[in-house]
Amino acid sequence: MVAGELRPQIGADGSFSLFSGRFGEGFHGPIGALREARAKFVRPAQLERFPAGQSLVVVDVGFGLGTNSAALLEAAQARGLTLQIWGLELDPAPLRQALEAPGFRRQWQVGTLRLLEGLQRDGRATAPSPSGLTSRASLLWGDGRQGVGTLLDPDGAGGQALDARCDLVLLDAFSPQRCPELWTLEFLGALARLLKPDGRLLTYCCAAAVRRSLQLAGLSLASIRPPTPPEPGVGAGRQRAAWSYGTAASPGPLPADPRPDPGAEPPPLTPLSAMEMEHLATRAAEPYRDPSGQASAREILVARQRAQAASGAGSTSAWRRRWGLEGGTGQAA
Ligand SMILES: C[S@@+](CC[C@H](N)C(=O)[O-])C[C@H]1O[C@@H](n2cnc3c(N)ncnc32)[C@H](O)[C@@H]1O
Repeated sequence: MVAGELRPQIGADGSFSLFSGRFGEGFHGPIGALREARAKFVRPAQLERFPAGQSLVVVDVGFGLGTNSAALLEAAQARGLTLQIWGLELDPAPLRQALEAPGFRRQWQVGTLRLLEGLQRDGRATAPSPSGLTSRASLLWGDGRQGVGTLLDPDGAGGQALDARCDLVLLDAFSPQRCPELWTLEFLGALARLLKPDGRLLTYCCAAAVRRSLQLAGLSLASIRPPTPPEPGVGAGRQRAAWSYGTAASPGPLPADPRPDPGAEPPPLTPLSAMEMEHLATRAAEPYRDPSGQASAREILVARQRAQAASGAGSTSAWRRRWGLEGGTGQAA
C-alpha cells in the first residue's frame, strides 16, 4: 500500500471506515466505526445530563470521516439538543473519500449528510433538525496543534475564545506511538483549558502516558466501561484483554459508580481500577513532550524514550506480569 493512500475498510458492524497507509493504522477498531463512535464517545458523553433545548459546544480532534461528530449529532438531536462543533483535521481526503462511498452515505440521516457535505465543500455547515433547532459545525484544517491555539485565541473561533466553554472534547487521533503530536502533555493541557468545569474529554485511549498527562493538566479521570455483553465480531482473546474502552477526563468530578445495580444497564464510566492506577506509576506513564508545539513525531518519541530510560518509575513489564496482561492488546504501551 502506498504511504499516503487511504483504503476503504468495513468493520464488524458493517459501517464504513478507512485504513491510513501514512500512519499504518485503521481509522477505527475492528468493532466498526459506528459502534465504536457510540460506545467510546456518544455513550460516555451521557447526553441525558443535559435538558432538551440546550446547545453543547463540542471539539472533535481528528475529525477524519466525521463519524464521531455525526453519531453524536444524531443522538443529540434525538434528545432535542443542538451542537456547535469545531473539528480539527490535518487532511481533507478522509471526509472526501467517505462521502464518495454509498455505504458511508447510507449510514446517516439526510440532515447529517448535508452537514458533512457542507463541511467538505465550505469548511462550515448547519444542520436544521425537525424540531426547528439548528446545529452548526466548522472545520479548522491543518495541524491540530495550531487548531487548538486558534480555538483558545479570542479572535480565533468565530470571534470568541473557547476557554472553559466546551461541553465535550472528542480526542480520536491515531495511537500515541503513530501520532504522538496529538497526545503530548502540552497538547492535552491545551485541550483541558477548553473544558467547562463539568465538561468532558473523551478518548478511546487508555495509555498510561495519556492518562498521567491529563491528570497533570488538572483533570480527574474515569475509565470507559467496556459493554456487557461484549461487542459481537471481535475475537474472544481480544475481548478478554480489553480492560477499558478508553478514558473520560474532566475538571470536575466524574460520576463513576463501581458497583452498578444488578439488572440495570451498567453506567458508562467507572473509577480506575487498582490495576489501572498502578499503571500510572510505571514508566509507561512518562508523558510525550512537545514544548515548542512543532516537534516531529520522531523527535517526540526519541525524547520520551530518553526520559523513560532515566526515570525511576516502576517497570511496565513487571506491572503486566503482576496483572496477567502478557500478550494483551497493547493498550498498556
Ligand atoms: C483515527 S482517525 C479519526 C477518525 C475520526 N474521528 C472519525 O470518526 O472518522 C485520526 C485522524 O487524525 C488526523 N490527524 C493526524 N495527524 C493530525 C494532526 N497533526 N492534526 C490534526 N489531525 C491529524 C488524521 O488525518 C485522521 O483523520
